[in-house]
Amino acid sequence: MSRPPVIAIDGPAGAGKGTLARRLADYYHLPHLDTGLTYRAVAHMLIAKGWPLGDAPHAVEAARLVDLGSLDKAILSAHAVGEAASKVAVLPEVRKILVDKQRAFAAQPSGAVLDGRDIGTVVCPGATIKLYVTASAEVRARRRLAEIEANDGAGDFATILADIVRRDERDMGRADSPLKPAADAHLLDTSEMDIETAFLAARALVDDALAKGSKA
Ligand code: C5P
Repeated sequence: MSRPPVIAIDGPAGAGKGTLARRLADYYHLPHLDTGLTYRAVAHMLIAKGWPLGDAPHAVEAARLVDLGSLDKAILSAHAVGEAASKVAVLPEVRKILVDKQRAFAAQPSGAVLDGRDIGTVVCPGATIKLYVTASAEVRARRRLAEIEANDGAGDFATILADIVRRDERDMGRADSPLKPAADAHLLDTSEMDIETAFLAARALVDDALAKGSKA
């Protein structure tokens, strides 16, 4: 019998991996975990209690309390929480606790879709299929600005671009589990693609991997 499918999706902030992960999870009827929310939950707890983000003992306590069933996307999506999450995410003790929870999610009998920064490299190195979704920093900044404006907000392109570049540097430059494609990941550059095109390209890769998996 073939193993339950695990779809691992990694990439930098704003590349479209979250949307892609949700679409694939819907299409293949698999549970989905946005692992960024787990780091955001730790950062949010620290901010709420007024504890410094680099305070490892408190961050560990917060990480232990993270419950995958009650991650509130509306609260955790705030821009400031994302920035704070990338600071908390450099702490190896925090990563270890969250990675254990993420692996338990991936091990469900149904299979699962997980998206983040280190899914293919660390959390699920044996995933059925690994996608590394990228787009140029300029394209990601333009998309982010369009999203803000669609919600009646206002933003400044140069500031958004600078934030994205800074977050990339932090995520790619950290010592523990830096953002990078797994050696066996399929690269999907969405700079020139709309979401539908990216979804169809991802589906073709997943279908291929599933067909190979069922023959194994
Ligand atoms: O994807 P999202 O923007 O929600 O992630 C917030 C931050 O959490 C990232 O910038 C990254 O530092 C961290 N993260 C991580 N590993 C993951 C998912 C997110 O380090 N698997």
